[in-house]
Amino acid sequence: MTSQKMREILNDVLKKIRPTLDQRKKFNELSKKILEVTNEKMSKFRGRAIIAGSLTRDTWLPSKNEFDVFIIFPKDLSEESLEEYGLKIGKNVIEVLGGTWRIEYAQHPYVRGSIGDVDVDIVPCYEVKSGEEIQSAVDRTPFHVKYLDKKLPRQLSDDVRLLKAFLKANEIYGADTKTEGFSGYICELLIINYGRFESVLRAINDWKPEEIIDVEKYWDEKDYKKLRKKFKEEILIIIDPVDKNRNAAAAISPENFYKFKKIAKQFLKEPDAEMFFKKPIQPLTKKELELQMQNRGTELLLVKFGKPDVVPDILWPQLRRATKRLEGILHEYEFTVHRSDCWSNEKDSCAIILEMEISRLPLINEKVGPYVWKEENSRDFIKKYESVAINGPYIRENAWRVEIKRKWKSALGKLKDTLSDKEKILKSKGLPNYIASEIVESFEVFENEKISEMLKDKEFAVFLRKYFEKEKLGV
Ligand code: UTP
Ligand code: MN
Ligand code: MN
Repeated sequence: MTSQKMREILNDVLKKIRPTLDQRKKFNELSKKILEVTNEKMSKFRGRAIIAGSLTRDTWLPSKNEFDVFIIFPKDLSEESLEEYGLKIGKNVIEVLGGTWRIEYAQHPYVRGSIGDVDVDIVPCYEVKSGEEIQSAVDRTPFHVKYLDKKLPRQLSDDVRLLKAFLKANEIYGADTKTEGFSGYICELLIINYGRFESVLRAINDWKPEEIIDVEKYWDEKDYKKLRKKFKEEILIIIDPVDKNRNAAAAISPENFYKFKKIAKQFLKEPDAEMFFKKPIQPLTKKELELQMQNRGTELLLVKFGKPDVVPDILWPQLRRATKRLEGILHEYEFTVHRSDCWSNEKDSCAIILEMEISRLPLINEKVGPYVWKEENSRDFIKKYESVAINGPYIRENAWRVEIKRKWKSALGKLKDTLSDKEKILKSKGLPNYIASEIVESFEVFENEKISEMLKDKEFAVFLRKYFEKEKLGV
């Protein structure tokens, strides 16, 4: 049962996140006009334009103020032509309506226009017969539009809005690679499956890892084991109603899955309108950084470099991979990382932080060789190290050993050495292409207190607070 109080709170929130009549009117008029202009241009290509996304089901939030137009081309058109015509028509339509545009990238490049304060995405895709025959993810969207048109009752639009706003305020809305959260489509499917906003929260409270949500009941319960194997290591499985072999929730990270459970539980226990609006996070101060360093007793290394000229969806996976690789390289030299993370302002700058567990090692290093009974191996070991050993070969605990001098006594030294490698070497060491090229251009390494210089960048300082103050999660 929904308490009276919770309903009152939700109604208050809705007053703030529901578009006003004026905003609706503006959206409807603008989208109608765009559809007209676009369809006229599309007839030449035997194609058509549709409105897609949240505007079609009245689930958009005025804070995003965006709607989506999909332009659908016949399947016999080549990919190059689809890109060329798609962009040309997109730019043209926005210009006719007196707006400005820029190019964004999904599976194909598309146009994002701004007309006044409204953003319009004009995305080209192919006409295909069913959701299973699509070539790229955008071709699936028209099927989502049709499905939701049939299945999402208008009385539930506001519940989708509540869910989107709730997730957004808690930074887990969006399936992009930075967020790894819940898409608008997922929100709509959850509402279709569970009903009202509060029913979704109650259901989520009971979710287990590898939860399966099969809205259209395509699969039998006895298939669930097979499904879990098919979608291995995906924490949540939401069968796409337009393609029963696709997990529509594949982008969601385990951390975000548990964060959703946490905030759902919290809201049910203590409903609070504040949870729908993002509170600004204070940037970490220099003093606080020093205190953290003292309390943690770790050493912090930070690598700063420029942002490669790629879209965020490419940037973030590459940054994460680069972070893992630097950890791995340091590990080969016996330096171990306690925790790490990466950051970018998505404009001109990127950073990788490595919080070290072992960042300094003694000069002397004992190499352990084979057991003394293995004569053949022992001979090889001795031969290999004889000339470089500063002590030994000697025997300890029945094994051959030598003492040699370590090349790198500090993680900082090794890190700078690695980062100074040639581009080809960086790539061969597993650093992703765009990151390697950027590091070859230039990089800086900051150590411990010196990192405080970077706190001038408020966005970075907020990131660093989140790094130190991990959110408490639970099952
Ligand atoms: P949106 O991100 O605009 O989502 O994508 P939405 O459902 O309209 O929700 P809000 O209210 O704006 O947040 C619209 C459609 O375009 C597809 C998505 O799958 C969605 O169906 N799309 C968008 C892509 O396939 N790729 C993209 O890069 C962007
Ligand atoms: Mn949209
Ligand atoms: Mn969009």
